[in-house]
Amino acid sequence: MSSAVPARIAVIFYSSTGNVAALAHALADGARTNGADVRVRRVHESAPAEAIASNPRWQGWIDSCTDEYASLDDLEWADAIALGSPTRFGGPAAQLKSFLDTTGGLWFTGVLATKVGTSFTSSSTQHGGLESTILAINNIFYHWGSLVMPLGYAHEHVARVSGNPYGSSFVSRKGATPDNDALTAARVQGERLAIITRDLIIGRNTRPNGAM
Ligand SMILES: Cc1cc2nc3c(=O)[nH]c(=O)nc-3n(C[C@H](O)[C@H](O)[C@H](O)COP(=O)(O)O)c2cc1C
Repeated sequence: MSSAVPARIAVIFYSSTGNVAALAHALADGARTNGADVRVRRVHESAPAEAIASNPRWQGWIDSCTDEYASLDDLEWADAIALGSPTRFGGPAAQLKSFLDTTGGLWFTGVLATKVGTSFTSSSTQHGGLESTILAINNIFYHWGSLVMPLGYAHEHVARVSGNPYGSSFVSRKGATPDNDALTAARVQGERLAIITRDLIIGRNTRPNGAM
């Protein structure tokens, strides 16, 4: 099997005001620059229309987002899955969890145990739950049997600038939108995901039964 086989990566996110969406697209860019075939997908909104309408930024995001919706096929297709959600009371948003709660049938087939998983988030405050959200998302990967890929400190941008080894993240205090430091960390996460997944595919394809 050639080392040119592209890693297939599904970046699946929920975002209410666009911050996590920006990280999702930066992560996808990083993966593509390392040869990955990438799908970026949002999950369905489930908040009441009046709640959305009460926040102009939320409504504006809903009106402008053109990303396709995630399906179970995206999970089955992917070699690696990156999950993103805003921090909501220290954990992931219900909208992302609702989608993940539809994966029972797929989980039962065992196919999700062959994936690499990684996660990312945005909160409004530095100590408002970035890590707890990423760790909570990663619990899904443990149940699926996936290989969890942290961001780590291997890249100097994370070691010297962005500083969150759990996954890329952005603090949106006072309505800020993801800055270059946060977007670069997300790109690094995508690059790392593409490289590690590609290497795993190559290794799997050289084993007699293709097991992982
Ligand atoms: C219901 C709700 C709960 C939130 N909980 C937290 C929280 O626990 N900690 C925090 O720092 N920010 C919290 N936030 C702020 C969001 O995490 C933050 O604005 C984030 O950047 C939004 O990302 P998005 O633009 O992708 O939706 C909360 C926001 C909402 C609407």
